[in-house]
Amino acid sequence: MKLKLKIWRQKNANDKGKLVDYDIDGVSGDMSFLEMLDVLNTQLIEKGEEPVAFDHDCREGICGTCSLFINGEAHGPDRLVTTCQLHMRKFNDGDTIYIEPFRAKAFPVVKDLVVDRSAFDRIQHAGGYISVNTSGNTQDANAIPINKEHADKAFDAATCIGCGACVATCKNSSAMLFVSAKVSQFALLPQGKVEAKQRVLNMVEQMDKEGFGNCTNTGACEVECPKGISLENIARMNREYLAASFTSNT
Ligand code: SF4
Ligand code: FES
Repeated sequence: MKLKLKIWRQKNANDKGKLVDYDIDGVSGDMSFLEMLDVLNTQLIEKGEEPVAFDHDCREGICGTCSLFINGEAHGPDRLVTTCQLHMRKFNDGDTIYIEPFRAKAFPVVKDLVVDRSAFDRIQHAGGYISVNTSGNTQDANAIPINKEHADKAFDAATCIGCGACVATCKNSSAMLFVSAKVSQFALLPQGKVEAKQRVLNMVEQMDKEGFGNCTNTGACEVECPKGISLENIARMNREYLAASFTSNT
């Protein structure tokens, strides 16, 4: 395949940035999107040009590091896949592909397609730890009965990889889907109930401090989430938050 790429290039956080055109040839449908960018970068390096900076790590859809807004969609045109698992067979010979960073005030661009998503880390830090008795008399987790439905929903919430596609997709740059997944994965389990009230209050407070927007129930986040995190988690977080606000002394 021969493709025309329009890639966001930005030297650093203060640079204005712009879309730059690149032509690429010999792209196979079996390549992943990131492998296609690897080929482009090899060609740029051979020509003595600066390669395009983009985030990646596992390339297996589990670390949440890869991002990219591809033709106006977070993680591109496929559903339930990350950019690293998107394959070039989703595109046609002669296509023009726009490649931009995830955009949100709370995700400032560092360089080219790399954005700073440390706001997510700070929200998770604000959530803190769960209390686990490690005195030597620790109860076997298998001995704690957990309703199957709750276990399944907690597991589903825990599959959030913290990629930020929900924020990039939301017209308000809201982080509610991400935060609600992180709240839900603990709130549904007995081990997470001890600090549940403080956790939800602290995480929501940090989310607001980071400058994410409000949720207006549009649902675009759920559509573009590569892990299929359900809006149901946002409703649960709102209930948890309300209950904690009424009973908290802090
Ligand atoms: S909720 Fe989905 S889109 Fe948002 S950070 Fe988690 S995995 Fe990514
Ligand atoms: S590189 Fe890890 S999820 Fe894409």
